[in-house]
Parts: sequence; structure tokens; C-alpha cells
Amino acid sequence: MVNSRAEAYAPATVANIGAGFDILGLAVDGAGDVITVELRDEPGAVILSIANDEGKLPRAADKNVASIAAAACLKQIGARQGVGIHLKKGLPSASGLGSSAASAVAAAVAVNALFGEPLRREELLPASLEGEAAVSGYHADNVAPCLLGGITLTNGTSIERIRRLPVPQSVFLALVTPDVAVPTSEARAALPAQVSLKQMVQQTGAVAELMDAIYRDDVVALAAAMERDGVVEPARAHLMPYLHEVRFAAKRAGALGLVISGAGPTLCAVCADEATAARVANTMQEFYAAAGLHSLIRHGKIRTQGAAVTAVS
Ligand code: HSE
Repeated sequence: MVNSRAEAYAPATVANIGAGFDILGLAVDGAGDVITVELRDEPGAVILSIANDEGKLPRAADKNVASIAAAACLKQIGARQGVGIHLKKGLPSASGLGSSAASAVAAAVAVNALFGEPLRREELLPASLEGEAAVSGYHADNVAPCLLGGITLTNGTSIERIRRLPVPQSVFLALVTPDVAVPTSEARAALPAQVSLKQMVQQTGAVAELMDAIYRDDVVALAAAMERDGVVEPARAHLMPYLHEVRFAAKRAGALGLVISGAGPTLCAVCADEATAARVANTMQEFYAAAGLHSLIRHGKIRTQGAAVTAVS
């Protein structure tokens, strides 16, 4: 059945989770991107409106991640009609919260809902990835948790290479996004081309510990393993204002560990309960304010469910 309008929400995501560079990611409860698609007789996807982006995102259909993902999804469905897209940004761009992945995923989920959900959730991965690729490369460490929810291990871009991991119930996250843009391309350019054998052993050890902690629902071990990234954080630290000072302040407020979220500048602290996560988020914001930097904060649990259809008519 073809509907006339459909709306979908897609959550923020934390890629890497510290040591798991390019292979781990998780979805976060709370604000995300919302896309409404309207059925049109003309084939393909066009952008009709974008809210909350301060005019920064491209409106051209072949440049915007949402319209690219929507067009790919329409093609996959074999639709003769097209869609007009309204995008409401809930996530700041270039912030390390998987903003482009959220727009791409919400677009694919909304288009699928418009046409009566002919595709299974997993089948929306290629269209979502095509949208994400327009901005930050063809990788799935944000797209997979955004689409599927929970924590995902992405050892490739095909659905067979993506595993959903158990979601520890004892983990609460506090996130702070200072008002500085760190484009993923710049954060990737800062990385070393090679690592030593010693670094490789430390990094694989950290990821193995992280996996073990996830399966045992051990928040203390999880936070420690996340922080044992000896390759990516040291190379990117200079791009994240006050990283070490904010980590210190967060831990004094009760956080168990803190890592860069994705390519930054958002920082993600791990806490053992909600009250602590709320306190840590406020503490981090106060730290940045004292340093003259505006920031956005959020706290919450790992979101078990991925993107969701919020209305169809
Ligand atoms: N894993 C990526 C990075 C983040 O840290 O560069 C977004 O995919």
C-alpha cells in the first residue's frame, strides 16, 4: 500500500566507543533527526525544507545525504513515484554524533514506510550508506547502530558483516558537544598511516576487553577498556578543546571513563547511573562555559531500538 506521508526519527550514535575505531558504534536515547516524506508523481527525491541547520546543509538533491538515501531507497523499492523531503535536524553537523548517518537512515526508513514497508530493516542499509557516503565516506559504524539500534560491530558494509551485540543495562552516557566543528575528513587526516606492533597488541587487547565487558554487563571494565585506545585519541586530541581537562572534571563528578565520540568534538562519558550521568553532563558544560565555549549536553541510556517510523498517513 502506498501512503501519502510518512515520518521517521533516527537517533544520535557514538562511533568507535573509544578503542573500537571504525568497527564499533552505539545508538543513544534522546534527540535525533526527523524526516517527513511526501509522495510526489515525479520520480526521485527532492528537498522541500530543512529546519535547524542554520542554512548550512546543501538543498541540492544530489548533494544532500537525505535525498541521496531516499533516492537509493526508491530505486531499491522500484517505485515509479518520488518523494519530497522535510528534514528537521535534531543533531548538530560535524559534531561526532552521527548527524549525517541519522539524516540518511531517517530518509530511508521514511521512504520505506511511505510504500508500506516492502523492505526489511536490514535491507535499508545500502541506501542509508549511500547517503552517508556523500559526507563522510562509505562506512557503517554510525549507520548500523542508527538503523538497527544497540551496539553494533561493523566489520564491513554488508549486513552479513554487521553483528548486534548485547546492550549492557548498567551503562549511562553523558555527552557534551562544544561549539567547534571538527569535520570527519580533518580528524581522519590526523591519523597515523602505520602503527607499531606494540600499539597493535594494546589496541586489540583493549577491544577484546571491551567485548568481554559488554557481554558481562560490567560498566567499570567497559569504561576502562574504552579509554585504552592508544592510537586514535592521541592523534586527534589536539582537535578536541580541553579533552584532558574535561575528562578530569567528568571523573571528579563521578564518570568512570570518557572518550571522543566518533571523530569528535563531542565527548562521551560513561557512568553507572542516571543521576551521575546528569551531573557529569552539567559539569562538562560548566567547564566549557568557564572556558568561553558554548556547548550542548545530553545524557541517557544506550538506545536498544534503532530508527523508528513515527507517523504514516
Ligand atoms: N569511525 C569514524 C572516525 C567516525 O572516527 O573517523 C565516523 O564514522
